[in-house]
Amino acid sequence: MKPKVLVTREVFDEVLEYLSQYFEVASNQSDVPMDYETLAAKISDKQGAIITLSDRIDAPLLERCPNLKAVCNIAVGYNNIDLKACRKARVMATNTPGVLDDTTGDFTWTLILATARRLTEAEAYLRKGQWDGWKLKQFLGLDVHHATLGIFGLGRIGQVVARRAIGFEMKVIYHDTRRMPSEIEEACRATFVSKDELLAQADIMTIHVPYSSETHHLISQPELKQMKPTAILINASRGGVVDDSALIEALRSGTIAAAGLDVFENEPKLNPGFLELKNAVLAPHIASSSRATRYKMAMLAAQNLVAALTGKTPPNLLNPF
Ligand code: DGY
Repeated sequence: MKPKVLVTREVFDEVLEYLSQYFEVASNQSDVPMDYETLAAKISDKQGAIITLSDRIDAPLLERCPNLKAVCNIAVGYNNIDLKACRKARVMATNTPGVLDDTTGDFTWTLILATARRLTEAEAYLRKGQWDGWKLKQFLGLDVHHATLGIFGLGRIGQVVARRAIGFEMKVIYHDTRRMPSEIEEACRATFVSKDELLAQADIMTIHVPYSSETHHLISQPELKQMKPTAILINASRGGVVDDSALIEALRSGTIAAAGLDVFENEPKLNPGFLELKNAVLAPHIASSSRATRYKMAMLAAQNLVAALTGKTPPNLLNPF
């Protein structure tokens, strides 16, 4: 008998075909998001699951899953999984690092350029038929070239973003919990600075840290007040790293100039304040969403699950025990 596994959201057919070679697969190809109770009921008799960032795996859920051996996130972030509870229940947890760095870095640049040059605001104006001709002062934006890029978190994705900045001849500064080795700093042409210096000096600040209790509201009212009034803030990391209410207030009052956001607190429910702001470029958590990369993420999660349930160490095991 093949082990039973659950795939909580729609994936590519090839991923299902691969999984079906090893497992009896129950898959939610209709892609209707499962609430916590539905997930608990569907996963309770399974040995493994392919999950996504909206599937919460915690101690009470694990108690209801006596056969569960592995949960494999289709995401590099894993704040939806309680790793301690998984270790206690001897459930392996995995993520998908590496395969999405370039694509997420590219999208960070999409947000930087669109926000600095007010693209979505200008397009909305044009689509509404309001454009009545060229004007010298129309949609004046911020120059990205030669500006100072501040990177909060110079991990894999932060490094991709930094390397792309070389083409824009920018000054790159970064802050992280620790200074990076000199080879990385040199490849990124990035200078380590304190958090205060990063906030005060960046013309464009982009965040690339994982979400945890330590990074909850890393950027809130005091930090926003330390930024330049002309600065823009970019977040393609996780909702909750930025205090959305404080950001909306800062964008309304001109404490900072603009923001480009792919992630939000309580997504997909958006704080309605964002929708009224012309100086916010908003995207629905799509930074890693190129066809090639989402395929690689889903396949890597499947490979992790196959390894976990066939007696091997999954390549991206988060909680060795
Ligand atoms: C990740 O991999 O954590 C992304 O946010 C998923 O899109």
